[in-house]
Amino acid sequence: MRPALTFTRNILAFFGFASIAAGVFASVFFLGGWYSVASTAWEPEIVRETLIFTRENSVRRHAVDFPPAEFDNAAGLRAGARAYLDRGCVNCHGAPGAEWARFSEGLRPDPPDLKEVAKERSPAEIFWVVKNGINMTGMPSFGDAPDPELWSIAALVKKLPDLSDEDFKSLAPPPPAAPNP
Ligand code: HEC
Repeated sequence: MRPALTFTRNILAFFGFASIAAGVFASVFFLGGWYSVASTAWEPEIVRETLIFTRENSVRRHAVDFPPAEFDNAAGLRAGARAYLDRGCVNCHGAPGAEWARFSEGLRPDPPDLKEVAKERSPAEIFWVVKNGINMTGMPSFGDAPDPELWSIAALVKKLPDLSDEDFKSLAPPPPAAPNP
């Protein structure tokens, strides 16, 4: 056989062997329980970056709904602030003047600060995430809520960077205290 052919054959054999070895290693590593799923374990940077990239592109591609007219007027923002509190977003993401619940610190990926998210996402993207959730993270789907309510939540999230603690409180005032008997 000509030397060039022998060389090519050896290279192919090497890659064939290397991929079988990698497959066996991966099976033992993952199926044998060596990979840690603890939320205290850090995943490699490349895995993290790949998952973030995948999430961003997936949300962008799927968020095709258009907001209804005036979804972010004063009434929409008030409905959004009320729903944000009642549906428990505040526990994981906090709100102006409201603390995040302690357990949210143990979530990984950790719930982002929505003031920052609001600057980078369109209302349609926020609507899609809240309606569908994000698989295999702590972000639940709120698909059982009616769409107009979800749009009002998206409006509120978009507005978060501009809201002071007082603004937020006036949008969703605490329920009046029960009268003394
Ligand atoms: C149990 C905790 C929890 C609750 C309750 C929760 N979220 Fe989340 N949320 C998360 C986590 C964790 C992520 C991050 C997911 C990720 O990084 O992939 C997230 C992500 C998001 C994102 C996407 C951020 C991005 O970068 O695109 C938005 C928007 C959001 N949440 C809004 C809400 C709203 C609005 C509510 C209430 C209707 C809510 N979340 C309720 C945990 C929660």
